[in-house]
Amino acid sequence: MPDRERAGWYDVIMPAAPAVPVRPLVLGSVVVDPPVLQAPMAGYTNYAYRQVVREFGGAGLLATEMIAARSAAWLETTRGEHPDRLWGVREEPRPLAVQMWDNDPDNLASVGRRLARDFRVSVVDLNFGCPVRQVTEKAHSGSWLLRDPARVGTIVRRVVEACDGVPVTAKIRLGCAETCHTAIEVAQRVEEAGAACLTVHGRVASQFFTGRADWTAIAAVKRSVSRLPVVGNGDIDTPEIAVARLRETGVDGVMIAREALARPWIFSQVAALLRGEPCPPDPSLDAQRDIVLHHYDLVCRRFGVSRGTLLMRKFACAYAQGLPGARDFRGRVSRVTTRVEFLDVVRDHFPRIASAGVSSRHAEPSSA
Ligand SMILES: Cc1cc2nc3c(=O)[nH]c(=O)nc-3n(C[C@H](O)[C@H](O)[C@H](O)COP(=O)(O)O)c2cc1C
Repeated sequence: MPDRERAGWYDVIMPAAPAVPVRPLVLGSVVVDPPVLQAPMAGYTNYAYRQVVREFGGAGLLATEMIAARSAAWLETTRGEHPDRLWGVREEPRPLAVQMWDNDPDNLASVGRRLARDFRVSVVDLNFGCPVRQVTEKAHSGSWLLRDPARVGTIVRRVVEACDGVPVTAKIRLGCAETCHTAIEVAQRVEEAGAACLTVHGRVASQFFTGRADWTAIAAVKRSVSRLPVVGNGDIDTPEIAVARLRETGVDGVMIAREALARPWIFSQVAALLRGEPCPPDPSLDAQRDIVLHHYDLVCRRFGVSRGTLLMRKFACAYAQGLPGARDFRGRVSRVTTRVEFLDVVRDHFPRIASAGVSSRHAEPSSA
């Protein structure tokens, strides 16, 4: 059969790009393939969201929301319970990373041991990047610890010892502030302490999310360690940028956070590009509406309809991000309180923007 007949129509129109030679990320016994990671996001990367990401595929490793080790330990000793954020984790498909924060090596070691032995998570991740005051100034944890690389090293070593061979990873920012860039020193301590991988978000904590992620600095962190795999993170908002970062900066993997709230299918697009295939288009607007409704069902199954409806408002806003009419949609969906209202607003919005001639995200309506 001639090649043209055998190929799908899109192969003819869009010939496959050459595959990017990217190796899977190996974290001890866990193979992250492709080396494209779903970032932990407090308030977002719950069980329902992770299920949506998993259904699209393409993410080599998924992560929970971070848990507070101190309150996890307290809950267990006083009530025999576990943090709500660990709901579903025992039965969930792997690979799955659970992230935790604290500044006390013993607390972190004991919760890490629990996660490794009882929850059998694939990866135990330590947060040294959170810039939120409650975690930094009040608890001297998260990015606060970047001012003390030796303590970061001690924490990582203790957790590695406690986790019975389950890979322990760390996630950092470039430093606490512009005047306190400690990422290279921290990376070296993390490596010496036996971590399996380090993720670097290319901002300092005082920036929160302002400015642009500094990928030159991320690449410098990668060059400063000898065997520790480094995952780069920050401002990846298209599949092409994910591939370019992997190809151009020397990192061993990339992590995507905010864009994957708007487009949980982005991981599958990156994976296709890495295989040398054309980038699959975003789902049609009708399909995106169905994805929002499916996500809503999953959230309601997990949290119940009342709480689920309120919780889903912010996810719906994220899905609409970058589409025309997003502001109007945000205003309407942020006020819904019942299932019927939520369904009405979503069902009304997507056909409306489709009829304005928009076929995909970032596109402008064909008529003004
Ligand atoms: C709402 C929100 C919650 C976040 N929660 C966490 C968290 O729990 N743990 C963590 O390490 N990073 C957290 N982050 C940071 C992201 O994992 C990521 O490092 C950051 O958003 C930069 O990546 P991006 O440019 O792809 O969004 C959070 C970010 C956002 C926007």
